[in-house]
Amino acid sequence: MPYFVRPSVNLNTEEKEVAYSLAHAAIAATVGGEDNEVMKMATVNSLLKTYLPYYYWVGFYLVHGQRQLIVGPYQGTLGCLYIDFGRGVCGAVAASERTKIVADTHVLEEGKEHIACDPNSRSEIVLPVHRADGSLLGVFDVDSTEEASFDAVDQRWLEQILRDTFAV
Ligand code: SME
Repeated sequence: MPYFVRPSVNLNTEEKEVAYSLAHAAIAATVGGEDNEVMKMATVNSLLKTYLPYYYWVGFYLVHGQRQLIVGPYQGTLGCLYIDFGRGVCGAVAASERTKIVADTHVLEEGKEHIACDPNSRSEIVLPVHRADGSLLGVFDVDSTEEASFDAVDQRWLEQILRDTFAV
């Protein structure tokens, strides 16, 4: 594993609630009222990675043209540059505009249902990111090196944080 990236450390439900509450408050205090999307994406990545120890790769893929995503601001090892709608977890979420949680990426068909930008990725959550006008900005992708890092608690908090940050 590259020297600059630490393996994930899972949290229990109570620890997640505390960490997300702190991260949500820090994000609101830092970019609340800001308009620049790049600034907000970079800040969301940084603060969530600071408070959640199982966040191995965290970042955004942005809608590019009609049916493609391109990599946006992220933190972690090298991310794929292009993802077609419908391909991988990110492409599936961009097409459906519904959150997807993957407990074990190894059970997915590689190259079709999952794209392994980093072989250390083992579980994943991907959420659609909408603007205030309802348009799809892209998707928010988080990878963990541990199995089953993500659940309904992550989904609830991340949907709240993304709504409060980008759909206002
Ligand atoms: N795992 C994602 C691809 C993005 S890399 O993980 C950063 C997918 O299956 O769409």
